[in-house]
Amino acid sequence: YYDYRLSVRLLQLPGSMSMSGTNTTHRSSSISSSSAGESSTQHLAEIVVTAAQHNQKSSNIVQLRISNMQLHGRDDDIKLLRGKLRELAKKKDVDAAEENNKHEDTINNLILVSGTCGTGKSALIQKGLGNDATKIGCTFTSGKFDAKLKCPLSAFSDAMTNLARYITVEHEKKKKSPSGGGLPIATLIRDQIQNEFDVEQLRRVLPGCAELLGARRSSLFGPSSEAEAAVPHRSASVSKLDSLKRHSGKESISRVHYAIRRLLKVICSYLKGVVLFIDDLQWSDIATLELLKCIVLDREIPSLLIVGAYREDEVPDHHPLAYHIRDMEQMNVSISQIKVGNLGVDNVIPLVAEALGMDDNDNKVKSLAETIHRKTEGNPFFVLMFLISLYDEKLIQYNFGAMKWTWDDDAVNSKIVTENVVSVLVNKMSRLQEETQRMLMVASCLGATFRKSAVVEVMKNISRVEMRDSMRASMISVSGTAATMGSSSASLLSSDLSNACTDQDGSDSSYASSIEEFEGEGLCEVDNEECRFMHDQIQSAAFELISPEQRDSFRGRIGSILLRTLPPEELETSLFEVVDLLNCAASNATDEERDELARMNLKAGIKASENAAFDTAKVYFKAGREALGSRGWEGDYSTMLDLCSDGAN
Ligand SMILES: Nc1ncnc2c1ncn2[C@@H]1O[C@H](COP(=O)(O)OP(=O)(O)O)[C@@H](O)[C@H]1O
Ligand SMILES: [Mg+2]
Repeated sequence: YYDYRLSVRLLQLPGSMSMSGTNTTHRSSSISSSSAGESSTQHLAEIVVTAAQHNQKSSNIVQLRISNMQLHGRDDDIKLLRGKLRELAKKKDVDAAEENNKHEDTINNLILVSGTCGTGKSALIQKGLGNDATKIGCTFTSGKFDAKLKCPLSAFSDAMTNLARYITVEHEKKKKSPSGGGLPIATLIRDQIQNEFDVEQLRRVLPGCAELLGARRSSLFGPSSEAEAAVPHRSASVSKLDSLKRHSGKESISRVHYAIRRLLKVICSYLKGVVLFIDDLQWSDIATLELLKCIVLDREIPSLLIVGAYREDEVPDHHPLAYHIRDMEQMNVSISQIKVGNLGVDNVIPLVAEALGMDDNDNKVKSLAETIHRKTEGNPFFVLMFLISLYDEKLIQYNFGAMKWTWDDDAVNSKIVTENVVSVLVNKMSRLQEETQRMLMVASCLGATFRKSAVVEVMKNISRVEMRDSMRASMISVSGTAATMGSSSASLLSSDLSNACTDQDGSDSSYASSIEEFEGEGLCEVDNEECRFMHDQIQSAAFELISPEQRDSFRGRIGSILLRTLPPEELETSLFEVVDLLNCAASNATDEERDELARMNLKAGIKASENAAFDTAKVYFKAGREALGSRGWEGDYSTMLDLCSDGAN
């Protein structure tokens, strides 16, 4: 046999198809496709076939598939979820039968899934609910909050973007189909929306729904008229912002909530049933929690099932989520709570057997699984991580003679388990090509979901020296290529990108192969333009590749590159993310950069206020004032005035 390289793929969620976003740089969201992932029961065959195929191509890769895994030990939870789904579909049928039904009895179901990191909350909803929802003709859409970027309403907005895109895609399909019959849903929905409400406002709050809403959006960036084109960029933006109608806090919140509830009402009345899944609510902004509460309480929205997942150990009693859950309980909202715990040994045995493509009755597999269970306490993510570290340390190897994995029980038994899963992953990443590691560093700053083009754009505009300065010293020695160490001379918010490019050595093909390596190693899922870290812990590990002292300046640098290179439309959609990144490096900015930072924070603050996300708006206004500092009133009077007055509002 040959020199086989093993590529461990893990964490891929079957049946969830990340729809590529039109313009966000980083967010996580998905809508399930009807082609649900098949259970992977033919792993051994897959391994051999893959090996043989790669032999022929002489790339010699064997893939141990830890993707498309079945859910083990969650039968009761799946049963409960399926019951909820049946209720949802049935309710719609009843509503359809009763023509004058005013949905008075409709209670929007709320399911909350909690557990610690890696217990399988996301997998349970995606596989246990998402796949089945599409099978029975319901629509499943999801969005996920990010640990590092605090963009208001982000997960909700992403879920709505995907829902809207799903509807418009269906609409396209119907247009092409001669047997489509009747008007497409998208047209019906659009007509109703256009007739009934303030589309302008919805477009601002949910920019990803623009196509469904059916009218052109106005941009906060870039001049839109000849008169505006004549004035400098800043004044154009600020004057445009000034022209936007602003409302007081409470009025604004109710207007936004009302518009979104009405939109959902229209959408849900045309679909069989909608499941809206918001993942990682422990990182939610307050505005989203308030909005979700309003939606749950709205009896006029038909056939909507809202599902949330959160890390229970990160939601103490004083957490806003805990407060909102208590509040809803007091309002007699019936919440189905699902607690997802660790797996028992009986379930870890088939999990390990499936990962190895071996029989769960095999005594060797059983004893390995028992050891792994003891060491990981049955947390499925840790089980997979443990398998990876066994592989990395060559304690488990594929024997092509015997056509199965082999290991030494004693060696596995004596392996010390590191509590820190991230360090296992960092270790794994340190073996990747250096270019791939650099791209992972960049991607980790862009969020749980990121656009390929955004990573490549940053890579093209950041010098190799800057990259090396930002990488953890230990990673440089591991990847071991010659390095010119030196301090980065590039200014954080430098607009002179031409200098930055001089010594970068990437090419489009090397970026593409790094993205392939992300995917091949099971670190990210790639769907056309959109990529997603397979787990938050993988994103955290990628972030760990950045030297701790350089993290803020590195993120600021990425923000400045995005600010200069994103097209205006995309910049507007990604405004919060870009400003969050820029703010990381505020302390090292020059006066000129601080002026720009203040203006960006003003825009972000106003946009957040328009989304009724006042908690986040306050943070941006404050960051803007701090950026201007004491010279604010003398330096940029009007921006300072706006930052103060809007902040006060
Ligand atoms: N019951 C299970 N059986 C098999 N694999 C599971 C199970 N639960 C989770 N996994 C796998 O473990 C990994 C972590 O699960 P995930 O749902 O992302 O965790 P969480 O959202 O709780 O952090 C994923 O690869 C997932 O497919
Ligand atoms: Mg999760």
